[in-house]
Amino acid sequence: MKLIDELRAEHELIERVLGSFRTWVERRVTGRTDPLDGEAFFRFFRDFAGSFHHGREEEILLPALVEHAELRPRSGPAVALVDQHRSMEATLGEMSPLLLAEPLTPLEKEALADLATRYSRALWQHIDAENSVLLPESEKRLARAMIRELPARPMTGSEAAAREDGERLARTYPQAYDPGAIRGEGCAICPSHGVLCEGVEREWWNDWEWETFGRGQE
Ligand SMILES: [Fe+2]
Ligand SMILES: [Fe+2]
Repeated sequence: MKLIDELRAEHELIERVLGSFRTWVERRVTGRTDPLDGEAFFRFFRDFAGSFHHGREEEILLPALVEHAELRPRSGPAVALVDQHRSMEATLGEMSPLLLAEPLTPLEKEALADLATRYSRALWQHIDAENSVLLPESEKRLARAMIRELPARPMTGSEAAAREDGERLARTYPQAYDPGAIRGEGCAICPSHGVLCEGVEREWWNDWEWETFGRGQE
């Protein structure tokens, strides 16, 4: 399905830009890079990762899963993933004045490094959960419901410009490796598992799946 293929490709770009962002922040706090790129990173995360990418997950994919794939509207993935989007948006909002400020005080540099670490780790983990659970489950379940395509809205001018910014930033700054980032696959990687979402079997499986695969799960 085109929308799901696009969301996967967008995850790849967002992951790369996050790695470049961590390199830029590392250089920024030691005064070795162009402070103006802070604004370009901010626009990429707000307009491309946020408005466009998270926007279509919330406005198109999750409602389609509720409508056609029996996903519960007020609990589980439909609530948990949106909650993660809001939480990352809040971190980005907190970080934005530091991305745009010049010069930075030593305390501001420390705050920027902390917030960038928190933001990138949360978004990497969110992408891992979506790539390994949300997108494959969506593909399977929408196909079963005979939904072959979902409407994909075009990018606005500012979203397209933000994507171009992201591609340039990913080429300009090498990707940092963060040994403290928690990466992986499946529900166990998702920070909402056991909090807002009970995992793939309880949230996604229908009666037939429970009868067929559910022995030993209860
Ligand atoms: Fe998401
Ligand atoms: Fe996503």
